[in-house]
Amino acid sequence: MFEIILTIIGLIIKATWLMLPAYMANPTAVVFGGGTPIDVGKNWNDGRRIFGDGKTYRGLIGGTACGIVIGLIQMQVTSLQYLGIFTFISIFTLSFGALLGDIVKSFFKRRLGYERGAKFPLVDQLDFVAGAWIMTYAFDPAWFSANFITSPLIMLTVVLFTPLLHRLTNIIGYYAKLKKEPW
Ligand code: CTP
Ligand code: MG
Repeated sequence: MFEIILTIIGLIIKATWLMLPAYMANPTAVVFGGGTPIDVGKNWNDGRRIFGDGKTYRGLIGGTACGIVIGLIQMQVTSLQYLGIFTFISIFTLSFGALLGDIVKSFFKRRLGYERGAKFPLVDQLDFVAGAWIMTYAFDPAWFSANFITSPLIMLTVVLFTPLLHRLTNIIGYYAKLKKEPW
């Protein structure tokens, strides 16, 4: 039992380390967000917004920058390199991909008629994981394969642990008055 718990904690630590640029980008987009929306207020041909006011240039750029900064810091922490060694590409694709995934999610949310900020369980929590993974697989397949594909348990840990972490972060963001909804 004790060993199982230790194994799970080890998996969560490694998963968090590998996903940290994405885990940073997503909430800092909320902190930096505001101003001109990415769709500049334009509608899709269904009369609804392309992405909506919740996706802004400031959020995208600020969030990506914060993800990159944390990744660069991680690259300097020599004592923790056993958890995973980042490449410059992976730092960028994990950060930018996370926010791209969130934007693509909003596109489909609007097409389905969900208003900005409406709750979309699981999709709201895993959109950025999907974006980060797809972008990283596309631009740094060797890194993605070495760190994720060859460790299916790590991937499973990310998928199970992220919704919990996301929920917790958003509750904090809500009470810190950074977010309008606690999800
Ligand atoms: N945000 C931003 N730019 C981004 C992502 C997020 O400015 N690229 C900010 C917005 O202020 C947004 C908040 O972070 O309202 C919360 O993000 P999120 O929950 O992803 O957006 P929602 O407002 O819920 O919109 P949607 O329904 O489209 O997901
Ligand atoms: Mg939301």
